Amino acid sequence: MSPGLPRRVVVEARAKLNLGLAVGPRRPDGFHELATVFQSISLCDTLLAERRSRGFTLRVRHEDAAVRGRLSRSARARVPAGPGNLALVAARRFAQQAGLAGGARFTLIKRIPVRAGLGGGSADAAAALAAMAALHGVRPAPAARGALEAGLGSDVPFAALGGTVLGLGRGERLHPLAPLGACRALVAVPSWRVSTARAFGKIDRSKYGLTAWSTKLRFAQRLAHGRLTASLAMRLGNRFETVLGDRRSDFDSLCERLREAGVGEPRMTGSGSAVFGLLAPRVPAGKVIDRFVGNEALYVVRFTRSGVRLRRLP
Ligand code: C5P
Repeated sequence: MSPGLPRRVVVEARAKLNLGLAVGPRRPDGFHELATVFQSISLCDTLLAERRSRGFTLRVRHEDAAVRGRLSRSARARVPAGPGNLALVAARRFAQQAGLAGGARFTLIKRIPVRAGLGGGSADAAAALAAMAALHGVRPAPAARGALEAGLGSDVPFAALGGTVLGLGRGERLHPLAPLGACRALVAVPSWRVSTARAFGKIDRSKYGLTAWSTKLRFAQRLAHGRLTASLAMRLGNRFETVLGDRRSDFDSLCERLREAGVGEPRMTGSGSAVFGLLAPRVPAGKVIDRFVGNEALYVVRFTRSGVRLRRLP
């Protein structure tokens, strides 16, 4: 091992929004074809990692990043601190694939609300892979790295790449798009959650022709050419908004209250339950937040050009 390797690193693991998300047919492997525009945002978890000669440990700390409202205690309790945590799973698989004996001690500072469609678990996994690569001086070949990421979750390849990206296939075929510049958004996170697997099941059972999917897919592919704006990407819609069942009225109410507060057309991210809307340039976020009526946790975020950012620590 080279003596120049860092012993400790800190990684910012950024959340994502799906500016638009179309869902196609279920494939023989059980996953669905997707066409989505991913966008990295400034809301992030922080992963501190220290090299160990063997074994892994993880400590999770919660930090509240909401500008208004708070996540419930039960929402925080959903973050596994044990072997099921995606950061640990990712680090272990990385070590196994690279034939490493070591090892890291992780502290995860969790700010991204869990199971809200913000990609927090995937971001943590991508951060753990970046940390392991840096601490142990291992650079897997692109194909092996891609397979490892996709094996951890459909959003992990994007979380590792970051920026503004068109995702096709099950979300792992990535086509970077032109960066969207200085956009801000307000993200509202309700206390209710959605099971992604069940939401995909509802799409399978709903009546929605394959013609509609082909139209959406073509629209998404065209976004790679021509001038892209966030509003244009959001015109792709989000298929999960149409299968909310009992939660439809909660979602409609949240969108209405966001509009009244002054954000642009609200949209769900991933399979929910978080909803976001663009903040117009020059409108102070504080004004919009003050006008918002509701108990949802609110986050003000910027669009960013990368998904993970790693720094060496002394
Ligand atoms: O890959 P990931 O762990 O994010 O998948 C979570 C759930 O969403 C799984 O049940 C998977 O079957 C479903 N899924 C899907 N099609 C995709 C991505 C996820 O059916 N493209």
